[in-house]
Amino acid sequence: MRTQVCIVGGGPSGLLLGQILHRAGIDTRILERRPRAHVLSRIRAGVLEGGTVDMLRRAGVGDRLAREGFVHTGTRVASRDRAFRIDFAESAGKPVTVYGQTEVTQDLYDARDASDAAPVIHGVEGVTIHGADTDVPHVTYDAGGTAHRIDCDWVVGCDGFHGVSRRTIPEAVRTEVERVYPFGWLGVLSETPPVDHELIYANSPRGFALASMRNENLSRYYVQAPVTDRAEDWPDDRFWDELRRRLPADAAETLVTGPSIEKSLAPLRSFICEPMRWGRLCLVGDAAHIVPPTGAKGLNLAVSDVHYLSEGLIAACGGEAEGMDRYSDRALARVWKAVRYSWWFTTLMHRYPDDTAFHQKMQEAEIAYLDGSPAARTVFAENYVGLPF
Ligand code: APR
Ligand code: PHB
Repeated sequence: MRTQVCIVGGGPSGLLLGQILHRAGIDTRILERRPRAHVLSRIRAGVLEGGTVDMLRRAGVGDRLAREGFVHTGTRVASRDRAFRIDFAESAGKPVTVYGQTEVTQDLYDARDASDAAPVIHGVEGVTIHGADTDVPHVTYDAGGTAHRIDCDWVVGCDGFHGVSRRTIPEAVRTEVERVYPFGWLGVLSETPPVDHELIYANSPRGFALASMRNENLSRYYVQAPVTDRAEDWPDDRFWDELRRRLPADAAETLVTGPSIEKSLAPLRSFICEPMRWGRLCLVGDAAHIVPPTGAKGLNLAVSDVHYLSEGLIAACGGEAEGMDRYSDRALARVWKAVRYSWWFTTLMHRYPDDTAFHQKMQEAEIAYLDGSPAARTVFAENYVGLPF
């Protein structure tokens, strides 16, 4: 089989890249290890930057998002007895949209189904990338007990943190930088009305908490928890009690609780692989970088990678190589800024095992500064709504 661009991974990165390239008349094959139902069952953050919304609209997958997404013009930040709102419209001139990553992924699958692009190939095993440092790369894999080979011009690794693509780049060429945080987030989804019409990020002496949502009757809440805990250690009653103790008082009083319909614990890490291109292989999204979820940047960074890469690939398929030469540097310049912001916001809001009273006081002083200073709120807001790309 032959294609122009072979995409490894059918998560949001691979599907969006496939959609944009298809609309530009470029032939793609997408190889996904898991069944579609599994890909669509993963619950991830749900805050889209304005640039992400624009990209999805331009890719022809913005209709349901425009109808069902919730435009948020601010967020609440809290610590101890202080709770205040950061107004994105006032501080950064644009809002964010709350729309689950699962919905984005569903819309992208629907768009691929509705087009005449080759369907995503599910259930592939043993994907191996060959000749990425030559002009004639190819990819081999097994599906249904049969060996397959795809010859292509470019291979794009959209296969997430545990994928095979990044590891194809020789260690001598690749630099990986990592920070693993000494805690995780325990997340609960429940069919209850959200406690507030906007998100609440709460720093409390008991640890961080976040109140988020998917729609009027679907709430998403998180509490910071030891990474060694398991979801089973947190029966619903324990979760709701802990959340109530960490949220600002007015929210704690009005919190509506109910049975959890999903509960999971995720570790937090910052991870960056450089470069994001090696020969004819490029990395996109979680395959190249991970950020802690505190700033909701994961999916948004994947989308900005797709923006730079799709420009480069469209030009390259027309015979112009320069965009591909700049892909890694352009993408990484934006990635590092989001890595910094996610690290800063995580550090500001969480309890660390070696924290002293001084650390807590410094966090509270910084949060008070955010509350009182328009300049500080602008810095927060311009990063939260997304730096330009
Ligand atoms: N072969 C084929 N597919 C693979 C392989 C492999 N060897 N390894 C992983 N995959 C698939 C996974 O099953 C998954 O569906 O690649 C996909 C990667 O998807 P994600 O992990 O969702 O990564 P990405 O598409 O880059 O999405 C960006 O934004 O909010 C963040 O982390 C969140 O997933 C999100 C990310
Ligand atoms: C979510 O709704 O799951 C969510 C929102 C904001 C974050 C992280 C997760 O920063």
